Amino acid sequence: MPSVSNLIQQLKASPTLALNTKAKSMKASGKDIINFGVGEPDFGTHSSIIDEAIAALKAGKTKYGPAGGSLPLRTAITQKLKNENQMDFEANEVVVGMGAKEILFHTFLSLLNPGEEVIIPNPFWVSYKDQVAAAHGTPVMVGMQKDGQPDLEEIKTKITSNTKVIVFSSPNNPSGVTYSETTLLGLIEIAQKHDLWVISDEIYERMVFDQKHVSVLNLRPEIKERCVLINGLSKGYAMTGWRVGYAAGPTSIISLIKKLQSHSSTCIPPFIEAAAIKALDAGPSLMSEHMNTLNERRKLAMQLVSEIPGAGFIEPKGAFYLFVDISKVTSDSFAFSNYLLENFYVAAVPGEAFGTPGFLRISYAVDTQTLKSGIQKLKEALESYES
Ligand SMILES: Cc1ncc(COP(=O)(O)O)c(C=O)c1O
Repeated sequence: MPSVSNLIQQLKASPTLALNTKAKSMKASGKDIINFGVGEPDFGTHSSIIDEAIAALKAGKTKYGPAGGSLPLRTAITQKLKNENQMDFEANEVVVGMGAKEILFHTFLSLLNPGEEVIIPNPFWVSYKDQVAAAHGTPVMVGMQKDGQPDLEEIKTKITSNTKVIVFSSPNNPSGVTYSETTLLGLIEIAQKHDLWVISDEIYERMVFDQKHVSVLNLRPEIKERCVLINGLSKGYAMTGWRVGYAAGPTSIISLIKKLQSHSSTCIPPFIEAAAIKALDAGPSLMSEHMNTLNERRKLAMQLVSEIPGAGFIEPKGAFYLFVDISKVTSDSFAFSNYLLENFYVAAVPGEAFGTPGFLRISYAVDTQTLKSGIQKLKEALESYES
């Protein structure tokens, strides 16, 4: 048999998707599974967005669209960035693709030459590391401080002549931590000093509680020349299955991403474009009720986990995750996550998936009763676990 790519063979499939698949197959076999592993809101897409997509389908928007997104969609994105984020982008500084995941992958492919290094602070979103490796880059991990902020001093020690990019998400997946202004300013300073690109993944910007979302681009607009902003409609509009993601940045990089789009997915479906424009034009108020619900669940999750002896967490200010510190019970969170699923039928992603063993990521985008019984089971599992 002919051989396959050594590089791609070495990559790991997404651990969050793998956990979901296992949880779903246990559910299909009749087990009453509580799934804290999901990375998507439990509420549905707003009916006005669905109606728009149906109308666009009926109007015949079923052909190819322009690679990297139509002008009306990219214009709607620039308007959104201006009105909501106080950022100035032209439509030719925006590219749209099949979810932020694809856009990120194309960003790494467009930025990296073989062996160039990408700084990835822990805990990191699962796909950064493997996407960098698949793009022939070298992921360089950096430790997390006790407050969940990246260790800026450690980053400085890890910069080499091969360092090219710093990538992070704030609000952070998996911790829900939002990077402080000190952290963001520190990252900007490092990027400027060492002539690095900054990839700022802001996909959870709408899910920020009791504070306002702040981007590196708000603190230092001049970083725009070296910054790729990543965002999409998956989380903020509960549109994970629609696959709408985008990047905004200098045309030097956006044009390369667009070129890759033209050779891969080409475009998102035009009827989905119509729905995306509808969503962007509606703005954050469309989903604000759901964001309030998420905030209530966040508070409940924190209260319930704080009552578990031996468990801790860093207060999440954004996203919909609680990153539970179980290191007093075990540092092998991978084994514990299996124990929890197989014996208590609760799925939660082990910290190893995010480069941080000794933690479990709980998604609190579930109804209150599920949240309560799942955390009760987590408590029982931690009490009974023998490592
Ligand atoms: C931090 C982060 N970035 C990007 C994505 C990708 O989002 P999508 O491809 O659904 O737009 C996710 C999804 O979980 C995420 O958590």
